[in-house]
Amino acid sequence: MSEVYSASVTAPVNIATLKYWGKRDTKLNLPTNSSISVTLDQAHLRTLTTVSTGPQYLASKLYLNGHEETLNKPRLVAVLMTLKELRKEVEAKDPTLPKFSDWNLLIVSENNFPTAAGLASSAAGLAAFVTAIAKLYQLPQSFSEISKIARQGSGSACRSLFGGFVAWEMGELADGSDSKAVEVAPKSHWPDIKAAILVVSADKKDTSSTSGMQITVNTSDLFQYRIKEVVPKRFVDMKDAILKKDFNAFADMTIKDSNSFHAVCLDSTPPIFYMNDTSKSIIKLVNLINDQSIANGEGLIAAYTYDAGPNAVIYYEAKNEVKILSTLYKYFGELPGWEALDDALLAGVKSVEGPIIGEDAFAASDFDVSRLILTGIGEGPQDTDVSLIDEKGEPK
Ligand code: DP6
Repeated sequence: MSEVYSASVTAPVNIATLKYWGKRDTKLNLPTNSSISVTLDQAHLRTLTTVSTGPQYLASKLYLNGHEETLNKPRLVAVLMTLKELRKEVEAKDPTLPKFSDWNLLIVSENNFPTAAGLASSAAGLAAFVTAIAKLYQLPQSFSEISKIARQGSGSACRSLFGGFVAWEMGELADGSDSKAVEVAPKSHWPDIKAAILVVSADKKDTSSTSGMQITVNTSDLFQYRIKEVVPKRFVDMKDAILKKDFNAFADMTIKDSNSFHAVCLDSTPPIFYMNDTSKSIIKLVNLINDQSIANGEGLIAAYTYDAGPNAVIYYEAKNEVKILSTLYKYFGELPGWEALDDALLAGVKSVEGPIIGEDAFAASDFDVSRLILTGIGEGPQDTDVSLIDEKGEPK
């Protein structure tokens, strides 16, 4: 029987606070602007990937959540080719190593969150895919170097190579060798950052990010202003706000950047709409929460952001958790997701009495939210002993 070599890792989801939107090179997946994200806690959102190799595999195969998927996509082919080239360099230096670079791969991947939630899982998926193969191949490259390979698979995936607060530096070089992810600050710098994801019911498929951003690059005038005037300054200022743990400034820029991204989508021809009426009601609700905290002299305490779909992500600090979640509980009631809170906190959230923020501003029908994911800032990719492939080299 031939030997099976395997490796497993988990990788996190990240949600941008300064959005990547636009490519200057579609083949190498190079962005028109730098971006910043928060890595979310893998206890609630992560991809687990096991990869194995051996001479007995007749073809490379990929399984996602129990279903076989094609590896025959240009971006995946490019990612695999780059990883194999790097493995060849390792083998050239130590000829006693097995020739993994000549063999096929079995890649088995699973998310710990419902696919039906409509959450973009491509970042965690690609990051786990690349990190697991890099581990199997024993590549000596740093995580920033590996992030360039993940970037080729899906731009936002490069930011899932680190925990905490992460920047994707757009770079200037035509070959993309300086377009990579770097850590702005680890989770331990500001561990109190929490995220509530409101999964909004959507009835139709959105324009994919990949095609949506190209429509914007090719048709929006406002987009030129965004990438030349707005983002470069915001990139510096947002890193500064993170380093100073200035939530008011961080929230202000996060909100403005989500608005700016959706504005350039609307300014595209044909216009692209990712937010729906529920998304807009949630914006209004977050604004009311912030109006009150500003009036109390606390500044902004909640920051909303939306990606290429209607789901809301609200960032806040742990000290304001009961205030924010009690407002959400009043509006959304019993939903899947509250059980993630520990009992004492949940009891505290449910027991808040008195006038609720914005009581008269909404009708129940304004909010079509189907699920809540209560999470927080998290760590980057992790090694794990859990394997999705058995000793015979078959998916479990
Ligand atoms: C709105 O990374 O999915 O989430 O590089 O074409 O795979 P591709 O795009 P993708 O785009 C993400 C866009 C975004 C903003 C962000 O995550 O920065």
